[in-house]
Amino acid sequence: MLHWVLADVDLPDEILEMLNNRCELHILARGGVSDEKFARAQGLLTYGHPIITGAFMDRMPNLKVISNFGVGVDHIDLPAAKQRGIPVGNTPNMLDGATADMTFAMLMVAARNIVIGDRFARSAAFTHYDPRILIGYEVHGTTLGIIGMGNIGRQVARRASGFDMNILYHNRKPDPKAEAELGATYASRNDLLAQSDFVTLNVPLTDETRNMIGRDQLKRMKKTAILVNLARGGVVDHDALAEALENKWIAAAALDVTEPEPLPRDHPLLAMDNAIIAPHLGSATRQTRLAMGQRTVDNLLAGLSGKPLITAVV
Ligand code: DGY
Repeated sequence: MLHWVLADVDLPDEILEMLNNRCELHILARGGVSDEKFARAQGLLTYGHPIITGAFMDRMPNLKVISNFGVGVDHIDLPAAKQRGIPVGNTPNMLDGATADMTFAMLMVAARNIVIGDRFARSAAFTHYDPRILIGYEVHGTTLGIIGMGNIGRQVARRASGFDMNILYHNRKPDPKAEAELGATYASRNDLLAQSDFVTLNVPLTDETRNMIGRDQLKRMKKTAILVNLARGGVVDHDALAEALENKWIAAAALDVTEPEPLPRDHPLLAMDNAIIAPHLGSATRQTRLAMGQRTVDNLLAGLSGKPLITAVV
């Protein structure tokens, strides 16, 4: 008999193929999923960051597993899942390289005015090579501050070594292994903010990290500094960031994530040339998304048959 599985949104073909003949899938975003269908659901596959509360779980008394496509699970009430004995799977490690690549891509795009340059080069205003325009910031040989030296932070540090960057990092506590392996130096958060030319945020969203970059922190940064966020939008206070960019407290920001996502159409950040915004593309390469899909399905099928998940947060 096929397992009943709910998914928040339509899934890509690769995942559908992996699930073929194993599950009867119902897509919540299409609407029309009745209480009876909720009651029969044994698995929940979360693909696009739906908010999953304890009350939501309670609509599914037969729920055996929640399998999340992605490493970050801040949108799922983990204590509620634990309390109900529902394991929650995620996809750690496999997206570190792609996310670190994208971190560097966004850092470079912001430092070297690539988005504004692209717009300008397509316009009638570009009539000749003009050495006076769009002068950016040097990347090689500068100081990179990594807030959150976890798996992704380490991969960012490796890439920074190739750019001969001086690497500062901040974690809850110093990590001597990272220092030995990566030549990184521990700094308090405030020192890191004050000394870095580029600051990348590589922390999960928790009560502790929510709004960790606000007015106070932005004012501590160099006027020439660039903030890069591929973690979660909630880590940055976006109104404070807009104020900082408007008043040139810092030079630019590159954001792959925002809160809310997307930002309201009239948010001031959307009108600023020194804010580079991408639509949550950190792990978006074919290879990485395939690996994430496979792990999501493997966790789901393991949970449905009562086996331990391959990678579980609860
Ligand atoms: C992650 O893995 O957490 C990415 O942000 C995609 O959800």
